Amino acid sequence: MSGKFITLEGIDGAGKSTQLDTVQRWLEIRGVVVKRTREPGGTVLAEALRPLLLNMSMSPLSEALLVFAGRHDHVTQVIEPALARGEWVLSDRFVDASFAYQGGGRGLSQDILKTLETWVCAGFQPDLTLWFDLDPDIAAQRLARGRQEGDRFEREERTFFERVRAGYEARSHMPRVCRMDAATDPKILAEQVENVLRQAFPSLAGGA
Ligand code: TYD
Repeated sequence: MSGKFITLEGIDGAGKSTQLDTVQRWLEIRGVVVKRTREPGGTVLAEALRPLLLNMSMSPLSEALLVFAGRHDHVTQVIEPALARGEWVLSDRFVDASFAYQGGGRGLSQDILKTLETWVCAGFQPDLTLWFDLDPDIAAQRLARGRQEGDRFEREERTFFERVRAGYEARSHMPRVCRMDAATDPKILAEQVENVLRQAFPSLAGGA
């Protein structure tokens, strides 16, 4: 059996990292081999591009080209080989982030993003995407708590995150995307995440 590809998305501060742990634990308890990865990043090349993306000022198109360059390496070198080995891939962000941040946030055209997606992903899509939706004000409060100065995305103003959120919303009609209310208490949210996993992957639902 080939593996499944699960992605987690949301604006900065939505609490994805905690719920990545929830998903990984739920799968591993059921004997699934999990390949956990992230974007921007996930390969030597893409990890080298990550600090440029997070710290260097650039045009929206350059941003998109760099992110998709890293993604091509990530898909071909890590994601597809892991799935072919029967592992399940769990990625902290994937292509929806480009539509939300470069499209919604930066205003880059959908046509450009769709072209890049066609070139780089060639119809390859996650099996399940958990979108952690949160009001940007709450996300900003969470980020401000006990953190040093953020990267250049995290330093963006509220209106940027409103547009990013709208960018995610615009993709939430796709059957693979499941909206989670990230304002929920993390423990209850983890239970909701597990329920979504049970429904999405009934063959694993009974285990453990
Ligand atoms: P993030 O997951 O927030 O990393 P961390 O939790 O360590 O801060 O990702 C870093 C940033 O990259 C995030 O602000 C969104 C941005 N990003 C894009 O702008 N486009 C993309 O396609 C991806 C994958 C990420």
